[in-house]
Amino acid sequence: LVASFGERSLAGLKVLVSAGPTYEDIDPVRFIGNRSSGKMGFAVAEAAAQAGAEVSLVAGPVSLATPPGVAQRIDVRSAAQMHAAVLQAAAQADIYIGAAAVGDYRPQEVATQKLKKHDGSELVLRLAENPDILASLSAQTAHPFLVGFAAETHDVASYAQGKLRHKGLDMIAANQVGGGLGFEAADNALTLYWADAAVALPRAEKSELARQLVAHVAERYRATRG
Ligand code: CTP
Ligand code: CA
Repeated sequence: LVASFGERSLAGLKVLVSAGPTYEDIDPVRFIGNRSSGKMGFAVAEAAAQAGAEVSLVAGPVSLATPPGVAQRIDVRSAAQMHAAVLQAAAQADIYIGAAAVGDYRPQEVATQKLKKHDGSELVLRLAENPDILASLSAQTAHPFLVGFAAETHDVASYAQGKLRHKGLDMIAANQVGGGLGFEAADNALTLYWADAAVALPRAEKSELARQLVAHVAERYRATRG
């Protein structure tokens, strides 16, 4: 892949990576989260830095050290904060890789005091939809090369290809969640889709998959954007 650039396939490029979950606060002591560990996104950020890119990493709440070579890390908590941080940093980025598991909904109101239990009655939470970071970027006239992720429990290929089209992405990396793969696991397996092709990256450690993903991103970027 990318013979002329070799090991430094992203040299001279600014790459923005989002990683981890988001937490949507309910009250001062509770939140809605998801099971993303951030490992895949952090591995992608490290692989992009190894490939010579200047890497910025926007991280949700994770317990991971900043990977070697990453130039800038911005920690956020909620999807709204991640949306704002990514949109600001994307103005300078050549490539955005959205590996974060962004919460789709947030409580419509965040209680300023701890919600108290009322025995015997049900509690109803009203949720509002969060903005879609990738869709916001692709709606801008000038935007980075866009790479999405799709973690699916079923119908992986059709959901991933649908997201590629609907969100206006250049590439999407899909994985099946469950069976010891995906969230919280050391291993993963990905299928990459772009408009006219697909390639399967078989089960491997996330660091190895990240290097392969980055090599494909570099190749597609050079082929379409120079
Ligand atoms: N994504 C995003 N902003 C959101 C939600 C998702 O940028 N508010 C990005 C994710 O970072 C990922 C891609 O969109 O790169 C796909 O996320 P996913 O949750 O699989 O897709 P959704 O469009 O949210 O659809 P659903 O959760 O219903 O499968
Ligand atoms: Ca989602």
